[in-house]
Amino acid sequence: MAFRVLITDPLSEEGIKPLRNEPSVDIDVATELSGEELKTKIADADALLVRSQTKVTREIINQAKQLKIIGRAGVGVDNIDLDAATERGIIVVNAPNGNTNSAAEHTMAMLMSLSRRIPQAYQSLKNQQWERKKYVGVELKNKTLGIVGLGRIGAEVAHRAKGQRMKVIAYDPFLTEEKAENLGIDYGSFEEVIQKADFITVHTPLLKETKHLINADAFNMMKPGIHIVNCARGGIIEENALYDAIISKKVAGAALDVFEEEPFYDHKLLDLPEVIATPHLGASTVEAQENVAIDVSEDVISFLAKGSVKNPVNLPSVSSEALGKIEPYFNLAEKLGIFLSYLSNDVAEKINIYYSGDLSGVEIAPITRNTIKGLLTRHLGTHVNDVNAFYLADKKGITIHENKTSKARGFTNLLTVEVETKSGTRSVSGTLLNGLGPRIVEIDDYSVDVTPKGHIVVIHHKDQPGVIGKMGNLLAQHDVNIATMQVDRSDVGGNAIMMLTVDKYLENKEKEALIRLEEIRDVTAVDL
Ligand code: NAD
Ligand code: MLT
Repeated sequence: MAFRVLITDPLSEEGIKPLRNEPSVDIDVATELSGEELKTKIADADALLVRSQTKVTREIINQAKQLKIIGRAGVGVDNIDLDAATERGIIVVNAPNGNTNSAAEHTMAMLMSLSRRIPQAYQSLKNQQWERKKYVGVELKNKTLGIVGLGRIGAEVAHRAKGQRMKVIAYDPFLTEEKAENLGIDYGSFEEVIQKADFITVHTPLLKETKHLINADAFNMMKPGIHIVNCARGGIIEENALYDAIISKKVAGAALDVFEEEPFYDHKLLDLPEVIATPHLGASTVEAQENVAIDVSEDVISFLAKGSVKNPVNLPSVSSEALGKIEPYFNLAEKLGIFLSYLSNDVAEKINIYYSGDLSGVEIAPITRNTIKGLLTRHLGTHVNDVNAFYLADKKGITIHENKTSKARGFTNLLTVEVETKSGTRSVSGTLLNGLGPRIVEIDDYSVDVTPKGHIVVIHHKDQPGVIGKMGNLLAQHDVNIATMQVDRSDVGGNAIMMLTVDKYLENKEKEALIRLEEIRDVTAVDL
């Protein structure tokens, strides 16, 4: 059956061509939906594509029965409840690069319109006024532009502002003096930037930390006659404080593309002649809309077909070079996790993962994620995936410890997973053999060599003559065929382990029959 892709905000027709050309996808474009209509439509969607208009709330996400991916054609994902998506194992992707240029150009357009009061002068002319004295502007040249948030767009704005011969000073938690020097701009703290600037432009995401970052206190620190631009997100500037600062003449002008509530049709800031505004048009160019729609369409197709994406928001991205090195271990890691979930029946409290040999030099978080996914799947079901594995482990109170060591006890690579429970610690180790694929090579302290695949039976028994024969006979009586078998022991006549691969999953009655043999201590049937 085809995947259903629901598109609820207007997206570039050219940009969604990759989806339209994909035979495995059915597209449903339904913009202007009411909340109730969206709840009905989302129920059987596999993918949802939005811009910023659709509010993808927890309530909406909870109505989805088979939603796998939400694509945001743009940067900001503040209209999507990321926690709710992560909890449900729904991946969220965005298009972080496609509209950078347009947003930077819009910021410059706003800055220049603001300094020369072009929209006001145009409006006056339309009203048949010729007011040359009233609309005297200020130059940008030699003025200081303070940039708060020097990410993709902030950095592009810095380049362009230098082209206008402005001095640029920026604050960003990831900006260092050295980086600033390389960019030919000054570095400052947030306070320094807003105190030194003649013009301020904000380019941060809207986060808890950036909400009302520009508030009454910040306005108090600024130079009188400051001009301020917000083409990032409504709410970074506190609108009431801005209103007061304009009335008090502290702020000479403000250019706003974004607002705390959107859309709106009447806003007190727009009553002020010092304010110029556009209705969230930063990314509204033919080029940007095409770029972002192509980016999310391609990620949706790739995710539905192969499970991989380029621009995940609720899953850290891995470079293709790093992925090439670690992807072969994903299956081994997941199988070791599943194996351990059978071996240890008690509630897991702590999981230790040891990366040895070649594995000590690679990016391990995605391998850990696959291990945890395997460990949790047996008890929590197939909804455990790469997106929610860490979240679900945390919710179950399981702590995860990763360790790296270059010593791999004779193997070129060794992955050991240990689970600590109230009743003790169980562990399993595996390796990837060059050309031969994954192997389980150790269970607790016993050496084994088993391909992690199919039906495996782990039997702990007493090392004494006849026990293997008895076990074989008993399984034969139950019509269980043994495909492979290995034995290891701690000491002669002491504890021992048998690893069988069998042709069918061992039912309870067969396990119980085995455990009734006096030499057998316990039996674990594993289904990989
Ligand atoms: P980005 O992630 O590349 O950059 C954001 C930067 O803000 C990062 O470098 C980050 O370190 C910095 N930052 C975070 N908290 C900060 C703080 N407290 N103080 C200073 N800096 C802080 O994002 P981007 O692509 O450059 O987008 C920037 C903003 O523009 C986002 O809010 C995005 O949603 C918005 N945007 C708006 C439009 C539009 O149509 N108006 C278009 C595209 C993007
Ligand atoms: C964004 O975050 O990318 C912008 O708000 C652009 C948009 O969706 O219009």
